Amino acid sequence: MAEADHRILNSQIKLGSQYYFYMETQTAIAVPDGDNCMEVYSSIQCPEFAHDTIARCLGVPAHNVRVKTRRLGGGFGGKAVKSIAVASACAVAAYKLNRPVRIYMDRKTDMIMSGGRHPMKITYNVGFKSTGKITALKLDILIDSGMFVDVSPILSDHMLGSLKKYDWGALSFDIKLCKTNLPSRAAMRAPGDVQASYIAEVVIEHIASTFSMDVDSIRNINLHTHNSLNLFFASAVGEPLEYTLPSIWDKLASTSSFYHRTKMVKEFNRCHKWKKRGISRVPIVHEVKMRSTPGKVSILRDGSIVVEVGGIEMGQGLWTKVKQMTAYGLGLVKCGGTQDLLEKVRVIEADTLSVIQGGMTAGSTTSVSSCEAVRLCCKVLVERLVPLKQRLMEQIRSLEWETLILEAYRNSVNLSASSLYVPNFSTMHYLNYAAAVSEVEVNLITGETTILQTDIIYDYGESLNPAVDLGQIEGAYVQGIGFFMLEEYNTNSDGLVIINNTWTYKIPTVDTIPKQFNVEIFNSGNHKNRVLSSKASGEPPLTLAVSVHCTTRAAITEARRQLVSWSGPNEASSTLVQLEAPATMPVVKELCGLDSVQKFLQWTIAKN
Ligand code: MTE
Repeated sequence: MAEADHRILNSQIKLGSQYYFYMETQTAIAVPDGDNCMEVYSSIQCPEFAHDTIARCLGVPAHNVRVKTRRLGGGFGGKAVKSIAVASACAVAAYKLNRPVRIYMDRKTDMIMSGGRHPMKITYNVGFKSTGKITALKLDILIDSGMFVDVSPILSDHMLGSLKKYDWGALSFDIKLCKTNLPSRAAMRAPGDVQASYIAEVVIEHIASTFSMDVDSIRNINLHTHNSLNLFFASAVGEPLEYTLPSIWDKLASTSSFYHRTKMVKEFNRCHKWKKRGISRVPIVHEVKMRSTPGKVSILRDGSIVVEVGGIEMGQGLWTKVKQMTAYGLGLVKCGGTQDLLEKVRVIEADTLSVIQGGMTAGSTTSVSSCEAVRLCCKVLVERLVPLKQRLMEQIRSLEWETLILEAYRNSVNLSASSLYVPNFSTMHYLNYAAAVSEVEVNLITGETTILQTDIIYDYGESLNPAVDLGQIEGAYVQGIGFFMLEEYNTNSDGLVIINNTWTYKIPTVDTIPKQFNVEIFNSGNHKNRVLSSKASGEPPLTLAVSVHCTTRAAITEARRQLVSWSGPNEASSTLVQLEAPATMPVVKELCGLDSVQKFLQWTIAKN
């Protein structure tokens, strides 16, 4: 702070919550299986944890409980801890009544109990040079964690991982989890990361607006060099070439015609009174952590393959990637038909008595770690099959996969392998890089915001499946738009969620998504520490949606400048806009000036 030429002190912002809005609400079926075992089918991201809790609730050994999860109709983090209570209540009822019991939440109950994203109150102090280079940032963050601890302690780590996307010089923070009279909060897709990305941009924009500087150049000047990145992230950074953000940043400027469109936006704003546009380019750095994950691959007599993994399919494409990895891994046997193995693979439900230590599907790394667990199994199976293949090839010239497997059965080769993938220190943490340019148009009369265009470039390393990963970027980004622009999840003074149905809770629709949406996968190539050189895809792109919020703020600032020009210097309201999230229509309308038409008419009459 002492090095700064200017300081902004004690500025405050607030952030709201967000509901998961999965298609399928919380549900479970518990069936006493007649063999002293309670079998529970649960829609849950962490069957292993439900298993342990159910055993404790029933007072039985863990081997008398079995939790099965086939797939979820969406999870987004909301089917972790909260689903344990649902599955356990269901099991207790089934145990008492000794008959099958089913629970499912109607949407209203689900919305009230699920908790959602953590609301926050942030106070920041920032110091910077006259050039816009930031020298110090100090943050005091109060996180509304609700009545029970849940997974809230992970929040601060997540926040820091995304906050450090800029070189703040010196960074000091005090993050407190607060107990309140609200339902406990769970981890919603990019928990803490999305709020931190927002905080970083608010600080940058505040500096720009205070000194009428160009916000894009303030972003530019505060992006990390590899050296500063090393200071902030140490173990996760990797080699200089792995830091792809500067290349992405420049590439995006040219693929989105950023500078040209910035001029066009200025021209549009000069020519239009009742509509204003904004355009912003925003970077993200998102730290992820690999976790241990089990896998099991078995080859059946007819050559078909059955796979079990710790990860749960919830729409993120985990099964697709696992299937691909199995076909690739076993294909290394190299005999007739191995190029078509994909069709022979079936991934089956997670079963806590069949594959243990499944952990939690979260943090955007479960798909890759499940793939790695499968790759390890396939490696073992290939090692067992290759000697037999070589022996057989001495007798026959061509060997089909089915024949090889039949012979393996005859020769008692073990055709089932399990593994537990455990990341080592050098592969545990890494950073994801991406950037987005968004352009919006704000209607000053109605407060409506239209997203005209979004361009994203995202570093996937070598994507395991570009089609799945593109879907993840688009889906995450749109869910982020919901958080920043639409979704109000309010409570009354007793802590009861009052926006609790599909009529009052507004998620994005086809009309909300960008009219032009260009997503490009940046292939940063081979990397020995990543699973098949790939990178995470599920959560980081959500934080890119902050670009829509920044851009809306830019458009509102234009509207307020115009308002000031109509009101005269005495009535001049500030052009600094602290735009809350979500920036809903009423919020935008109010900031653009509820009386803007009146002001314009008065100004026109006075002028004439
Ligand atoms: N995509 C869909 N369609 N449905 C979901 O529930 N969950 C997200 C993301 N993408 C989700 C999704 C969340 S919260 C996470 S953590 C990641 O997927 C999980 O991906 P992973 O299997 O790679 O860890």
